[in-house]
Amino acid sequence: MAAHPGGLTVVAGAVADAVDTVTTDLTSTIDDAPAAVVVQDLVRTYGVPTKTDGETPVLLGVDLTIRQGEFVAILGRSGSGKSTLLRALAGLDHDVSGSGTVVVPERVSVVFQDSRLLPWARVLDNVTLGLRHADDLGRERLAEVGLAGRERAWPTELSGGEQQRVSLARSLVREPQLLLADEPFGALDALTRIRMHTLLRELCARHRPAVLLVTHDVDEAITLADRVVVLDSGRISLHLPVDLEGTRSAADPGFAALRARLLDALGVPPTEGTE
Ligand SMILES: Nc1ncnc2c1ncn2[C@@H]1O[C@H](COP(=O)(O)OP(=O)(O)O)[C@@H](O)[C@H]1O
Ligand SMILES: [Mg+2]
Repeated sequence: MAAHPGGLTVVAGAVADAVDTVTTDLTSTIDDAPAAVVVQDLVRTYGVPTKTDGETPVLLGVDLTIRQGEFVAILGRSGSGKSTLLRALAGLDHDVSGSGTVVVPERVSVVFQDSRLLPWARVLDNVTLGLRHADDLGRERLAEVGLAGRERAWPTELSGGEQQRVSLARSLVREPQLLLADEPFGALDALTRIRMHTLLRELCARHRPAVLLVTHDVDEAITLADRVVVLDSGRISLHLPVDLEGTRSAADPGFAALRARLLDALGVPPTEGTE
């Protein structure tokens, strides 16, 4: 990754040659807050071009800006390229070619569906891995995710939901300016997922990272995000601000109206739901 004078970082990685020079004015404001993430005309293609159709174009020109502290959820059908986009922002897309501009802040954390904890390290050590003198901060973050007292537990002693809490604590211990989450609650049961939604909202309100949450769950997107975007045919086909007041309930008419619009954008008949 290359440092950018604006305190942001241009993700280069394996596609360095294809990443354009950043020309965006990063101090410009969108809805008053400066941009934390700028994606311009992002193209990503798997495989090498051959005469016999060896290429799989996935992203065909994605434009996306995320403001500091803004929570954006991205919806799209399976295989639409959500994880490909997230990996581009994380600088983890080494197996793909492409072009375009990706600008992210310096401190980026990623949370996946699988908590990816090291089984041989205790919970606190998993949280502070790679950081020096961070035990107090690690304990603080574990308390924030409701795991005070479990610092010396092994990951296998925790439930799936608790492991994801550790994963969230680990991502927050670095005070990320950008949190990338790829279906982080996809493997959890419905009740645990609801608890995790509440926790994530609280944590984001306190730490205010910019967030890009990948999900295939329309209700999850509306519950958590300030704005929901839909990825379709390699581009963002819809930007939908979630302008709901107070606690969000799926029973509210405003919630239902947003759900209907998003299902329509995803090509799902209203009666079918999304699962
Ligand atoms: N490493 C890879 N090599 C080849 N094709 C890939 C690779 N990763 C993803 N793809 C393909 O790219 C498309 C988008 O994948 P992905 O970004 O994982 O979609 P989503 O997260 O929206 O389900 C899919 O068709 C998938 O098969
Ligand atoms: Mg995916």
